[in-house]
Amino acid sequence: MSRYQTLVPRPVQARPAGGTFELTPQTPLVAAPGAEQAADVVRLLLAPLRLPLRPASAGDGLAVRLDPGIGHPEGYRIRVDETGIQLYASTLDGIRHATQTLRQLLPDAAWRTVPPPGARWPVECGEVIDAPALAWRGGMIDVARHFFSKHTILRYLDLFAMHRLNRLHLHLTDDQGWRIGSRRYPRLAEVASHRPHTQAGWFRDNPETDGTPHGGYYTLDDLAEIAAYAAERGITVVPEIDLPGHASALLAAYPQLGSGRHTVRIGWGISTSVVKPVPATVRFLADLIEELTDAVPGRYVHLGGDECPLHDCWGGDEEVARYQRELGLTGHVELFGHFMRELAGVLTAHGRRMVVWDEAFVGGGLLADSVVAAWRGDGVSRRAAAAGYDVVRCPVFPTYFDYAQSDDPDEPLSIGGPITLEDVAGFAPVPESWTEQERAHVLGAQFQAWSEYIPDPAHLDYMVFPRACAFAEVAWTGRPAADDFVTRLAAHLSRLDAAGCRYRPLSGPLPWQTGGTGHRRRVGGTPIAVVREHLERLAERADIPPDMATMA
Ligand code: ACM
Repeated sequence: MSRYQTLVPRPVQARPAGGTFELTPQTPLVAAPGAEQAADVVRLLLAPLRLPLRPASAGDGLAVRLDPGIGHPEGYRIRVDETGIQLYASTLDGIRHATQTLRQLLPDAAWRTVPPPGARWPVECGEVIDAPALAWRGGMIDVARHFFSKHTILRYLDLFAMHRLNRLHLHLTDDQGWRIGSRRYPRLAEVASHRPHTQAGWFRDNPETDGTPHGGYYTLDDLAEIAAYAAERGITVVPEIDLPGHASALLAAYPQLGSGRHTVRIGWGISTSVVKPVPATVRFLADLIEELTDAVPGRYVHLGGDECPLHDCWGGDEEVARYQRELGLTGHVELFGHFMRELAGVLTAHGRRMVVWDEAFVGGGLLADSVVAAWRGDGVSRRAAAAGYDVVRCPVFPTYFDYAQSDDPDEPLSIGGPITLEDVAGFAPVPESWTEQERAHVLGAQFQAWSEYIPDPAHLDYMVFPRACAFAEVAWTGRPAADDFVTRLAAHLSRLDAAGCRYRPLSGPLPWQTGGTGHRRRVGGTPIAVVREHLERLAERADIPPDMATMA
């Protein structure tokens, strides 16, 4: 099969022609006038080939041209004939995508960090013409429930770039851990970044813990490094501080932001740790946001807004009641909306757009430019788009990759499911039934790797890949994956092997990827149909109803 028929995500057009061109130590990297920086981008992304790619300004070889005629800002064109390779785009991001596709046209060894002895780099002649349908093609990694090292995140940025995904949403804070090392608020690192042990087994039926401390955090310099590494690959990091709920770790370190006593949680579910929405809290958070936006330069900051048992947490608090009266607000949902808008205003002052889970849309917590990450189903996504907000489509079904990939009894522990590779491949991020105006507000889509049941990077690979390959195709093309997806994927998995990604094979888990008979054994978990129905109902409201906390 021609490598032009193995590309993932599938380009708009990819056509082989006869013959080959080989990249060798003598091949120059030819920058057209004004494309010197674009040539640097190509050199950086092809560094694993260990070719000198000596700079040249004319002649045959690997040629790079910035061509304003390529209308789409992320569009690109590749032409390979027996005299050389030409990469065209109108922006550096387009050149980056062209280079990633070229790397897929090369032998699989191009995905190793260093080539094996004797590696050669032939490329079949042909042409690729391509551009993405959606601007936001993302994935979320939950580094709060389980911490993943900076090196794991950098490796994921390489995997994202390989699939032309361009947003990495880092869920940096939650009840079970706070992962941002603040200079102003040192107790976040000292207290909020670790827990003494972790719940073992499924959250509803296993009170046991593993007895092992867990923790970690990124310094602001680490976050700046991650963001810069991402930017070099055309990826924007979207950092999330989840507010006002999911705040046990924050409140364990700074109890004055809430009421009562809190500890960094060891178990899963929805907690009753919600910060008080009062001016002192907003001032504290504004300081943190300033530190975060100084470190991470992208346009977006995610501020959470999900799963707040507002009545349970604010109902009996006199200070909250007084502030609510002062503002002339009639209920906790209005106060929640006010709080989220205040934080959105802080972001505006830093030149950023707020991203929030869809509860903040339902609760009136948005500014006009806020982006809604719609997770509770198609209904709330459409309502947000109809109201004129930009929407990132991330419905639990089929974008939550913490759900099992099959009903196979060998699957390891997960929250429930299944959400199969075929489910992801069949996702239509821009539903045909929506109006033209609603469809225009679909900024894009992203998958979610919540990590309650993902304790280490090997298991992260298992849960994310190859579903992320299908997702990347859906996000790039704006519609369900093409009919030949599984054939292309079968070839693409060899690239993931070379890249060292420990994905789930199409035939099921390898012996060491199964759940076994201990704490990691499969339990049924919540069936996906039940989850979907439950969330569709919850999506009518902005908060978690009284006494429902600890439900997942
Ligand atoms: C979420 O899954 N709580 C956004």
